[in-house]
Amino acid sequence: MSPSSRVARACVIGHPVAHSRSPLVHGYWLRLHGLRGTYERADVPSEDIDGFLFGLAAAGYVGGNVTIPHKEAAFRACAERDPVAEELGAVNTLWLEDGRLHGANTDMYGFLANLDAGAPGWDQVLTEAVVLGAGGASRAIIRGLLDRGIDRVVVVNRTLERAEILRAQFGPRVLPVAWRDIGGTLAGCRLLVNTTSLGMNGQPPLDLDLSALSPDTVVTDAVYVPLETPLLRAAQARGLATVDGLGMLLHQAVPGFERWFGVRPEVTPELRAYVIADL
Ligand code: ATR
Repeated sequence: MSPSSRVARACVIGHPVAHSRSPLVHGYWLRLHGLRGTYERADVPSEDIDGFLFGLAAAGYVGGNVTIPHKEAAFRACAERDPVAEELGAVNTLWLEDGRLHGANTDMYGFLANLDAGAPGWDQVLTEAVVLGAGGASRAIIRGLLDRGIDRVVVVNRTLERAEILRAQFGPRVLPVAWRDIGGTLAGCRLLVNTTSLGMNGQPPLDLDLSALSPDTVVTDAVYVPLETPLLRAAQARGLATVDGLGMLLHQAVPGFERWFGVRPEVTPELRAYVIADL
């Protein structure tokens, strides 16, 4: 088989991975652009992840996405990483170059592109943002907010120590706050971001008193199942602008697809509708 007729194979690597919508997204783009390629699920338990990543090229893959719980293992496995991945210590996009594994982190890009599309100009007058949660998603989002020049990012977390680690990493523009003190943080903020699992199907709702928020606050949620989380519904009821989390998933997929299949795809209303039909 000549290289030009070879089908490019990519995958999403996680454990579990059955819930991942990434195959839907990449499958849609492959068909839309008439490309010869496949995008599969690879359910790899933690004890097998190093071997799987080491054997990625031999197994015939051109690269893949990495999801929970393997983003740190993917980081360690890469010979080269982009600056965002270096800073976050996590890789969600892999590709092979000259037989060597390269990695990037596109979560920050996905977050920013989603807000740019859903609330254009959101960062123009923004001085203070509140981020709920201090896990991996929060780290990528904080990096993005600081990148856009936001003066202060208040990180509210149940476990205060995890928020303090983020301040130690990103510096004094990050302000850690304990969950019980959340009320005092909302009046000054113009962007509220949920990165906790609260509000996800099967989890308790995120039940916040939003009355202190200024009417020009944008509220966004990294949770996208359900698409309209209790937090977003409560914000809409107050007349606030909201951006759901699905776009973050869709936009973070763009750079990987371009690398593996050679076409930069677009996040369109049709793609959104296609994925929403499966949620
Ligand atoms: P991810 O990498 O997806 O961000 P994570 O590292 O597991 O996931 O982080 C999940 C976040 O949701 C954390 O900030 C967690 O708070 P703790 O650091 O205190 O664990 C937050 N979270 C999960 N369940 C929560 C709950 N019931 N109440 C408040 N916060 C919760």
